[in-house]
Amino acid sequence: MREKVTITTLQAKKARGEKITMLTCYDYPTALLEEKAGVDILLVGDSLAMTVLGHPSTLTATMDVMIVHAQAVRRGAPGAFLIGDMPYMSYQISKKEAIRNAGRFMAEAGCDAVKLEGGRNMAEVVEALTKATIPVMGHLGLTPQSIAQLGGFKAQGRNVDTALRVIEDAKILEEAGAFAILLEAVPPEVGKIITKQASIPIISIGAGPQCDGQLLIVHDMLGFFDAFTPKFVKKYANLNETILQAFREYIDDVTSGRFPASEHFYNMKPGEAARLEAQVKDRNSSAVSQDGM
Ligand code: KIV
Repeated sequence: MREKVTITTLQAKKARGEKITMLTCYDYPTALLEEKAGVDILLVGDSLAMTVLGHPSTLTATMDVMIVHAQAVRRGAPGAFLIGDMPYMSYQISKKEAIRNAGRFMAEAGCDAVKLEGGRNMAEVVEALTKATIPVMGHLGLTPQSIAQLGGFKAQGRNVDTALRVIEDAKILEEAGAFAILLEAVPPEVGKIITKQASIPIISIGAGPQCDGQLLIVHDMLGFFDAFTPKFVKKYANLNETILQAFREYIDDVTSGRFPASEHFYNMKPGEAARLEAQVKDRNSSAVSQDGM
């Protein structure tokens, strides 16, 4: 088993200029593979509402669902740094509720940290969680839980005023105690400035190459979700095609009788098949003679 990835590991990587790798993960088999490959950070993202559960946005994810998925991922990836994504309205109502819900990720699922969306408006919550011993990753730029306010899934910080606001928010989150910040869908110039100014790791999902690390949604990078594909996605596989092909071959094999073949049978012990056949024959013939009585 690899050495456990901790906050210290991530800070050391930033200090050495070594890139941090991060992927979303929602289930046990994928966690086993991400762990085996050596991904640093696994995020149980509320994006699972879309990629796994088929909802049109992330707003329907609940704490109970997130906890079940986080537990499965932790079982498959004991060495990764595991982050539970705080779902919509699990941290916005009060600091007390935020601590209770974030505490569930830590205590019930064995997460190493939580992530929440928002800048200056969430500084007090970040501070409260940090004081309660819960490490927090901030999330700025395109924040999917605010799509109603943002007017959809749109890149942020594309002019000087909005860029400066994201840069200020990053400072505020760091001062509030965030151990890292995720920057989503902002121009690379903004990613570069924030990464240079921050002493904590800055992870990019569509924020350019100069950030301390990169995140992709695992279903996007595997080509396993194609409702829409953001510009920042690089596809490393085309699972949709592979899986569809397998399903079609299966249907073809079953309907044509090619499956199951002899290698898929449980053979009887030597001599037992003939004995079974004889006994069934005997029983059937005595049943026929009783019917005739
Ligand atoms: O839920 C998630 O996977 C996320 C990413 C979109 C960054 O928050």
